[in-house]
Order: sequence, then C-alpha cells, then structure tokens
Amino acid sequence: MRSSGLGHRVRAAFAGAALLALAGAGVCGETRPAPAQAAPLSEEALPRVKAQFEDVCGNCHDLYVTTDQRKTRAGWATTVGKMIGYGVPLSAVEANEILDYLSTQYAAAN
Ligand code: HEC
Repeated sequence: MRSSGLGHRVRAAFAGAALLALAGAGVCGETRPAPAQAAPLSEEALPRVKAQFEDVCGNCHDLYVTTDQRKTRAGWATTVGKMIGYGVPLSAVEANEILDYLSTQYAAAN
C-alpha cells in the first residue's frame, strides 16, 4: 500500500490563523462564513480553485484520497483544517475556497 509513505511528509507546522478562520465565525467573531454555509464558487473562480486544489492537495498523497470521498461541509472543514495542521501552505482565503470547492463537488448528503 502506498499509504505507509505518507507520514514522512508531515510537518508539525501549525497554520493557526488559517485554521481558526476555518473553525468558523462563532469562535472569534471574524467575518469568514461558518462551515455550515455552503458557498458555491462562481463559474469564474471554479477553474482557478480546482487547479489550486489539484496542485496543493496532490503533493503528499494522490488526489483520489480526497476525490473518492464524500463529506459534509463540516467534514471537509475538519479535513482541510487537519491538512493545514500538517503544513499545507494555504492562506485562510485559499483554504476557504478549497472548502467551498470540496463541499460542493464532493458533497455528502446532509
Ligand atoms: C503536507 C502533506 C499533505 C498535503 C499537502 C495534503 N495532505 Fe491530505 N493527508 C496528509 C496525510 C499525512 C494524510 C494521512 C493522515 C490523516 O488522515 O490524517 C492525509 C490524508 C488526507 C485525507 C484522508 C483522511 C481524511 O481526513 O479524510 C484527505 C481527504 C486529505 N488528506 C485531503 C487533503 C486535501 C483536501 C488537501 C489540500 C488542501 C491535502 N490533503 C493536502 C498530508 C497532506
């Protein structure tokens, strides 16, 4: 199995600011949308965010690790937050866009 090779890529870096933003407005009163609010990307943004997802989220593991799954928005928020904790270099805005992308393209029935 390929999964045994994942661990060595993990960095302990913790992008606290982006993670906090993902955690939702309730925690600190910031202006980011709460995870429960689905925000479909515009037709203009979609190809850009898809390309960024494929670029950034394929670095440590295959994309199908993500695209084979269906999760609720809250579930994807947990996953993206965990990946940021592993050191994925995303700003809060970029992380939120990828969250919008995943929770609309790979949505679980709520
Ligand atoms: C720095 C390396 C790294 C990058 C970049 C990375 N991941 Fe991961 N990812 C991992 C590791 C390590 C695991 C396995 C351990 C685990 O599941 O927590 C994993 C597991 C996963 C899983 C399966 C476990 C779950 O929670 O469902 C998903 C889905 C996933 N990553 C999505 C993503 C997405 C989306 C991105 C882009 C935002 C991303 N990953 C970028 C390291 C990374």
